[in-house]
Amino acid sequence: ISLTAYNTFGVEASTHFFVRIASTEDAKEMVASGTLAQRPYVVLGGGSNILFTKDFEGLVIKNEIEGIELIREEHDWVYVRAGGGENWHRFVLYCVEKGWQGIENLSLIPGTVGAAPIQNIGAYGVELKDVFDHLEALDLSTGELHTFHKEQCEFGYRDSIFKRTFKGKYLVTSVALRLRKKPQLNTSYGAIEKTLQEKGIRNPTLRDVSNAVIAIRQSKLPDPKEIGNCGSFFKNPIIPKEALLPIQQLFPNIPYYPVEDGQVKVPAGWLIEQCGWKGKKVGKVGTYAQQALVLVNLGGAKGEEAWQLAQKIQKSVQDKFGILIEPEVNIL
Ligand code: EPU
Repeated sequence: ISLTAYNTFGVEASTHFFVRIASTEDAKEMVASGTLAQRPYVVLGGGSNILFTKDFEGLVIKNEIEGIELIREEHDWVYVRAGGGENWHRFVLYCVEKGWQGIENLSLIPGTVGAAPIQNIGAYGVELKDVFDHLEALDLSTGELHTFHKEQCEFGYRDSIFKRTFKGKYLVTSVALRLRKKPQLNTSYGAIEKTLQEKGIRNPTLRDVSNAVIAIRQSKLPDPKEIGNCGSFFKNPIIPKEALLPIQQLFPNIPYYPVEDGQVKVPAGWLIEQCGWKGKKVGKVGTYAQQALVLVNLGGAKGEEAWQLAQKIQKSVQDKFGILIEPEVNIL
């Protein structure tokens, strides 16, 4: 089975074993059949955060558990649940339509609902953890369904317990969010403010913010349907403030944002651009001209080729700045 249609970088890779999971029951049956003990496996959502560098020697489990439902309503809040295989952006639009506020800044992020908590997706000043209530996930070794509340997920920047201790252990069957009925919009991110201003919008609605985010993403990020990519290929590195000082001596313009514990986050896109990679093409891969953090498939690229370029970029950033940038994308 070809996996080309199942990864947004659009690389050619294949697997002999592929299963679609449309319900929690399907997932339980799969575990009960014992098939997971026989070979390695990987759970795939939208395929937007994965790079296949070779054929996959195991079982690809495609999470297709769909559905959106209101589970509880309070005076100021709604609790809404979506299936792990539901398309993330469709879920966002559904909530925007209903007037439920909290995830509009996360509009147009590719991928599925189930993948969102695994890497704590974030954009334009909002992270999934800000609205997260709980998730349900199936333990792929026992077939039991577990509930994880926010604290148990150990969310961090593009990080959660599901990327560390519980890596590969669970299939996320559903995610529940707590959203506001009376919008408290977050438009403080510079690009959102600017876009609203340009459109002459003074008192933005939920939909205005969603539309602004969509417009920003469309102008900065390539559409995977047209140009294969996985969004940001690397995470923005977080370094101690003391480590920044000597770098600032050499590069006074280096941008940074303070984060917790006296650390700073440095935009990887800037580091990569300074190393001369922005818009560069190497064979069938390159970096996007509008955003150096995004690697692109220029047509017919192999995953291995993209990974080679990523490693070259990583090394040049390390050599020039002494900073290690780590992939955000899962390399298989
Ligand atoms: N920059 C450059 N050159 C570039 C790209 C960026 O100099 O080619 C610098 C600029 O200083 C710019 C700063 O980087 O002001 C930040 O750029 P941007 O606002 O585009 O955000 P980012 O830090 O590159 C992060 C997320 C994105 C998210 C945006 C918006 C990560 C790894 N990426 O990118 O998430 O959409 O912020 O909030 O944290 C993703 O994870 O796949 C993703 C697209």
